[in-house]
Amino acid sequence: MYSNHYKYVSEIINKALEKANLDGVLIYSGHAQNYFLDDMPYPFACNPHFKWLVPITETPHCTIHYQPGKKPTLYLYQPKDYWHSLPATPQGEWTEFFNIIPVACKEEVPDYGKLQNHAWIGQANSCEHDSLQHNPKVYMDYVHFHRACKTDYEIENIRQANKLALKGHKAAYKCFKKGKSEFESHVAYMKATNHNEYQLPYGNIIAQNQNGAVLHYQHMQRHRLPKKQLKSFLIDAGCVVNGYASDITRTYAYEGGEFKLMIKAVDKMQRKIGKKAIVGTSYIDLHIQAHMKLADILRDFDIISCDAQTALESGLSNVFFPHGLGHYLGLQVHDIGGRQTDENGNTLSPPELHPFLRLTRTLQENNVLTIEPGIYFIDMLLDDAKAKGLGKYINWSRVEDFKPYGGIRIEDNIVVKKHKPVNLTR
Ligand code: GLY
Ligand code: MN
Ligand code: MN
Repeated sequence: MYSNHYKYVSEIINKALEKANLDGVLIYSGHAQNYFLDDMPYPFACNPHFKWLVPITETPHCTIHYQPGKKPTLYLYQPKDYWHSLPATPQGEWTEFFNIIPVACKEEVPDYGKLQNHAWIGQANSCEHDSLQHNPKVYMDYVHFHRACKTDYEIENIRQANKLALKGHKAAYKCFKKGKSEFESHVAYMKATNHNEYQLPYGNIIAQNQNGAVLHYQHMQRHRLPKKQLKSFLIDAGCVVNGYASDITRTYAYEGGEFKLMIKAVDKMQRKIGKKAIVGTSYIDLHIQAHMKLADILRDFDIISCDAQTALESGLSNVFFPHGLGHYLGLQVHDIGGRQTDENGNTLSPPELHPFLRLTRTLQENNVLTIEPGIYFIDMLLDDAKAKGLGKYINWSRVEDFKPYGGIRIEDNIVVKKHKPVNLTR
């Protein structure tokens, strides 16, 4: 699979270089930055352009020198260092496609400044040579647009990242059912997925009860709630395989009842919307359809009194669903290029009422994206709605009934196809 992936990637890089009138490119893995006034680094996050070519995701100070028509060279940083262990010797099919040269210190790195007509792709202030163009826009736009279409190799990695995350989801849910704390669910997730905190694609969101109404809830309460107080469990957690992320959310009710029925309704509409992620569809349209369906659910549960169209146009549906339907997914959790309409860097902004929508593109084959509708009961947004005169549509006593449950989000990872999308999560 990697060889086809390499072929696709190298064709895109060749074309991007041609468009940018460049002879070659240096792609830097990156390095960790220190905290302010400190010698402790923030966790290292690898440059996605680098991970796209090689599945080395935890090694800073590496560079790939790529020139069209030549075997690229990977300068693999292997310092003489008794503070850290050395990165493992690279293995796998991909290694055949590179000349791999270990470098132990700066002095062993070639003088990239002597290269003619090259660009440097890497984080801010990482390029030490004025003669190199730093992240030239023409190159970046071209790559970012085409990186949205995933190869079989990439899809397989995201599939494996789904499989692994689902093991963690199961373990975390089991803890909830046993009455354990949010933090205990988190620990069970980490154990089941064999990830440490730095390897997760994003901080786990593990919420019981009202905490599910905080979209990126981060605290993880250490204490257990008495079982009779347990109402709901929302887990948004993913994994990484060869640099590729999964991003999955599930919501559960502790017992039967209306909240469980609402989860079922959201699950049903989520699956339906997911099946519409086919080639040629505007993701903005899917987002709007999701709003309409969620508004129908809110009305069915007697939470709002107006019809879906009114809920959409008045902004009422945003009160309960205040984020985008989803985003591209891959080497980044929110993979780049979601608003780019072409390879020249033109973009399409989201509709005015939906500024958080990260993906506005018309879908192409093998785009990988999330579908993550939700319904939340968020005090701040409910207060705003009242202040804006939308309170007349809201059945406040029903809102009070649901508030203790926090919210619902259901999120799957989908591969866009011509007729039938592939759901990597279900
Ligand atoms: N977990 C972050 C997101 O769903 O976008
Ligand atoms: Mn997501
Ligand atoms: Mn998520």
